Amino acid sequence: MKNRVVSGYRPTGRLHLGHFHGNLKNMVSLQESHDCYFFIADWHALTTDYRDTSKLAKYTSEMMIDWLAAGLDPDKCTIYRQSDITSIPELVLYFGMTLSLGELERCPTYKEQLRELDSRVVNTYGFLGYPVLMAADILIVGAELVPVGEDQVPHLELTREIARRFNSLYDGIFPEPQPILSKAPRIPGTDGRKMSKSYGNYIQLDEEPGEILKKINKMITDPARKRRDDKGHPEVCSVFQLHGAYLPKEKLDEVDGLCREAGIGCTECKKMLAENVNESLAGFREERKRLEKRPEIVGDILREGSLKVNEIASGYLAEARNAMRIGAL
Ligand code: TRP
Ligand code: SF4
Repeated sequence: MKNRVVSGYRPTGRLHLGHFHGNLKNMVSLQESHDCYFFIADWHALTTDYRDTSKLAKYTSEMMIDWLAAGLDPDKCTIYRQSDITSIPELVLYFGMTLSLGELERCPTYKEQLRELDSRVVNTYGFLGYPVLMAADILIVGAELVPVGEDQVPHLELTREIARRFNSLYDGIFPEPQPILSKAPRIPGTDGRKMSKSYGNYIQLDEEPGEILKKINKMITDPARKRRDDKGHPEVCSVFQLHGAYLPKEKLDEVDGLCREAGIGCTECKKMLAENVNESLAGFREERKRLEKRPEIVGDILREGSLKVNEIASGYLAEARNAMRIGAL
């Protein structure tokens, strides 16, 4: 029996390099060796964007096409949409009964988002319950492994706590899932902060070559390196950081050395990065164009995925209800 893996993405539209190196690349290789379940977390999108739901469908299709173009293959993994899985909310209800408000309020992502987003919008029951929904996503398919970004680790800790509590209160059967973290370095955006849709500092996976070069050219390098013959400090340069995702170790060390002795100029260094990024995305762009001509595959994949996952999920839900003596006479 292969280990079961689950991961979800909120539908935010087109994916960028941060998604790819941070997690998607991992998912593509895991489908070869594990029993993988990858879903579009549209209910999670509602936790912050419940007022305007008009783009959900478009973002769901766009993201699914990006997944496929990046190499997720419905013959090797199961792809589905959260809102098609009818057992999830019932599990959320049971888990919610067992958690204290403090446990949810202490969650670092909750505290951070409450500070960063408009607190009038996210000061809701649904938003506080985000990790409960995530735990149900994972446990409803009995997953043991969860490929995620570093920021999601506290959510997984809480998921394990939820599983342990359920198991000990009701003699349940949920496994305690572990994260799989990417080995890739942190992917900086074009402004040096973490690459993110909300910062507007991203390079999309379907970005055209000219646009890639333009964005990389605008990146800030070592601020102390004003002239071509100034020696550079690659450790403070986000161009160098991004090179880390593309160059093998020896090549990276070579660029490091050249930068330090002013053997390479920033323009040239950026051009090399743009070429490598561009080359690595060529296959993706081509595949995406091919898939865009067959938009009906999105619905086909979701239908098949939800049939399969609903069957698994209703099995786990039935066991949970049984353990809790819900619906018994
Ligand atoms: N919280 C995750 C994120 O923001 C998305 C997500 C929702 C998820 N449910 C999940 C990831 C279950 C892994 C497993 O990236
Ligand atoms: Fe950054 Fe490259 Fe310029 Fe060095 S040469 S500062 S690594 S862009």
